[in-house]
Amino acid sequence: MKIGIIGTGAIGGIIAKKLAATGHEVKIYSSGGQQKLEERARELGVIPSTKDQIIVDVEVLIVSIPTIAIPELSDLIAKVSNNVIVIDTSNYYPFRDGEIEDLKNGKVESVWVSETLGRPVIKAFNNLLAHTLESGGKPEGVKDRIAMAVSGDDQQAKEIVSTLINDAGFDAVDAGTLADSWKHQPGTPAYCTELTGEELHQALADGDKENAAYLRDQAIGKFMNFSMPPAHEEVVAMNRSLFPENPNRH
Ligand SMILES: NC(=O)c1ccc[n+]([C@@H]2O[C@H](COP(=O)([O-])OP(=O)(O)OC[C@H]3O[C@@H](n4cnc5c(N)ncnc54)[C@H](OP(=O)(O)O)[C@@H]3O)[C@@H](O)[C@H]2O)c1
Repeated sequence: MKIGIIGTGAIGGIIAKKLAATGHEVKIYSSGGQQKLEERARELGVIPSTKDQIIVDVEVLIVSIPTIAIPELSDLIAKVSNNVIVIDTSNYYPFRDGEIEDLKNGKVESVWVSETLGRPVIKAFNNLLAHTLESGGKPEGVKDRIAMAVSGDDQQAKEIVSTLINDAGFDAVDAGTLADSWKHQPGTPAYCTELTGEELHQALADGDKENAAYLRDQAIGKFMNFSMPPAHEEVVAMNRSLFPENPNRH
């Protein structure tokens, strides 16, 4: 497929690399300037683009930037043709993104993104850590393959996004509509806990919307108490430990 990616950091970069490696035509754009973008594109094996061109001649546009920067894209995204699937990878962290009133008041994050950008989005690539995305993929059908959640209101678009998730090395699990996408936001059992498809189905059903922001902030508080940045396995273990009532997960 022809894919444009806005944001070439930890997540956008890995998605770009993985999808290009499986034969997709991937171009990238980020706000950091031409030279940095060209270096990043070389490193990832993809094509550097401009802000104007990133939305042109693509079937899928992946927005992978911090939540706080999403409003900066609204003019650009308003020009995106209606048949392009827009994927939102974002997660809201007040300590990083500041206080966004609607989100603080419980609006579902990708619903806010969709309203802010003025068009439908599919939420995907948000509930696995960058390290998991980079190193945890497996071929389809392999036992204990890690699963990723996908939500949105357009079933056909979700199926297309699910094929990209599969190409990236993960099982896709349909988490429902965009309004349901809180089930894989930070502070839920589905969030960055590296589950199989079956386990992820259960975790999506187990989430508690009212408690999620509290648990998200608890997790951040615990991470900040580490004297050194925690290892990837410690982050996953910590995320899982927030939900001890859930079945044992591999
Ligand atoms: N890291 C993870 O494990 C993870 C996992 C799942 C989801 N997410 C979510 O995915 C999103 C991206 O995360 P990340 O970790 O990849 O962030 P990151 O490493 O900080 O990268 C952010 C990228 O966004 C670009 N950017 C920022 N503002 C922009 C704008 N206005 N226009 C165009 N590009 C802009 C930055 O460009 P420059 O550097 O060129 O300035 C950078 O390439 C976040 O919402 C995050 O919560 C992260």
